[in-house]
Amino acid sequence: MAKLINGKEISEQVKQETRVRTDALKEKGITVTLAVVQVGQDPASCVYVRNKKRACEACGIVSRSVELPEETTMDELMKVVRELNADPSVNGILVQLPLPPQLDESAVIRAIDPEKDVDGFHPESVGKLSLGLPGFESCTPAGVIQLLRRSGVECEGKECVIVGRSNIVGKPMGMMMLRENATVTIAHSRTRNLKEVCRRADILIIAIGKARFITEEYIKPGAVVIDCGINRDENGKLCGDTDFDRVSEIAGAITPVPGGVGPMTVAMLMKNCVDSVQI
Ligand code: GUN
Repeated sequence: MAKLINGKEISEQVKQETRVRTDALKEKGITVTLAVVQVGQDPASCVYVRNKKRACEACGIVSRSVELPEETTMDELMKVVRELNADPSVNGILVQLPLPPQLDESAVIRAIDPEKDVDGFHPESVGKLSLGLPGFESCTPAGVIQLLRRSGVECEGKECVIVGRSNIVGKPMGMMMLRENATVTIAHSRTRNLKEVCRRADILIIAIGKARFITEEYIKPGAVVIDCGINRDENGKLCGDTDFDRVSEIAGAITPVPGGVGPMTVAMLMKNCVDSVQI
């Protein structure tokens, strides 16, 4: 049976460290403020936004909510972003994705001041990560790195296979694992022989958004399996991209869903908010 990598516990450590930093800033009269912009009421987004606001409270960060109606226009949203950019009391800006179809996500992300880009999605942040320069890093892959480091998983020289090539997880994950000196493969929906490719992995990181897609046939015995998926199965039960029961029989270590990568994403957002004051 695989060792469980406890994201809940590790995320609490990261949040605790963040709290210590915000307390120290408060002594100097500095408060950290995150503006959370939500357009419409997508149910999953509502859950994520609520979790982020709760985490802010636990970490001593002020969260400022901007809730806009579903039919918000591009001009209206851009005006909100520009106002938050110009507001010196706002340190971090987060526009919850996905946005309704009339809105251009990429243009909105580009409009955020890179110095307040706590999601790490702005091209400047992505460019800095690619070049090995310090900057804001996408929270989910940054959380995975913390999970690996804090559970003692050595990455150097290891075969790492990432399944999924999204801008938010797969691609930045590849850059971060390269920085950890792993040998990195990014596989995706067009990859041939996906099972064979995955079975090469010492560290397998999955971010595809397909409930229980990865079974034991994709796993090298003893591999470390990191599941970035958050899905609902046919019974409405929360599950990851891996079939946890079958994969945990053969993996060396595995993250559960819930309680694995998910809480780390929020914890790293909190860390980025404090960095936004201190960078
Ligand atoms: N939607 C799903 N994940 C994220 C995230 O990390 N940040 C934002 N802004 N939207 C998301």
